[in-house]
Amino acid sequence: MEERKLGPVVGLGTWNSFGGDDELAGDVVGAALGSGIQLFDSSPMYGRAERSLGRALEGKRERAAVATKIWAPTVEQGRAQFEAQLGWYGRIEIEQVHNLVSWREQLPWLEKEREAGRIDRIGVTHYAPSSFHELAEAMRTGHFDTVQLPYNPHERECERELLPLADELGMAVIVMRPLGEGELLERPPSDDELAPLLDFGVESWPLALLKWALSDERIDVVIPATRNPLHAAQNARAGEPPWFGPDERGLVERLARA
Ligand SMILES: NC(=O)c1ccc[n+]([C@@H]2O[C@H](COP(=O)([O-])OP(=O)(O)OC[C@H]3O[C@@H](n4cnc5c(N)ncnc54)[C@H](OP(=O)(O)O)[C@@H]3O)[C@@H](O)[C@H]2O)c1
Repeated sequence: MEERKLGPVVGLGTWNSFGGDDELAGDVVGAALGSGIQLFDSSPMYGRAERSLGRALEGKRERAAVATKIWAPTVEQGRAQFEAQLGWYGRIEIEQVHNLVSWREQLPWLEKEREAGRIDRIGVTHYAPSSFHELAEAMRTGHFDTVQLPYNPHERECERELLPLADELGMAVIVMRPLGEGELLERPPSDDELAPLLDFGVESWPLALLKWALSDERIDVVIPATRNPLHAAQNARAGEPPWFGPDERGLVERLARA
């Protein structure tokens, strides 16, 4: 199963960022690609983000992997979302069932599309711990290649069941909300407090949080969202070794509690 793993890499989330603003999307996606970010996460749920991403990738599509989602109560609506995505992207590297919506119904046709080569990998996502039991059930079917879940020093519920399960099943893990939707950035530690992380290429709090997640060997991808091209370029650097050990991860956890 080892060959299905994707990471460790930094991707770009697109929720609440540049959806509908094609110029901003071009700037952010251009900065991301220019800094080595190659994976872009989106969804039909994110307003016009899918369309903006498609436009931003025009002429650059071969440099990117698109991880988007099906978010539909019926197969008919799911297929319509997929057809629109094929129009924007041509093919889909990771097609995820968003928030487990109708996952049992959507899975059979997604598997056919995977067999036909229009989808590389099928994934499943949820953001709420109250749904992690069902997320584990979906994972245990063995039909999904990837799982997307929240993981940051304030949201560690996935450590209990989902990360060990993903490891056991050889599934790639994509981390949503690596910066806690920005809340973890509100009171950043001082430069002195971050100094022990300098040898790890980390000189800022956002980078410390992204590297905290990627330093867990069960994590493949973090997908921070941003409207700022400079932030996209900065975040890309979290995908480079050396990785944190238990001491550095512990430090980040303590600083996040402060
Ligand atoms: N939240 C969910 O429930 C959820 C659910 C499913 C999937 N996802 C996926 O996961 C992605 C990431 O999660 P998220 O968007 O909720 O939150 P997030 O990535 O944890 O945080 C985004 C926030 O971090 C800030 N930020 C990013 N890089 C920064 C940097 N270098 N310096 C300072 N601020 C920085 C952004 O502000 P600036 O614009 O100012 O940079 C933005 O306010 C989503 O976009 C989506 O693709 C999320």
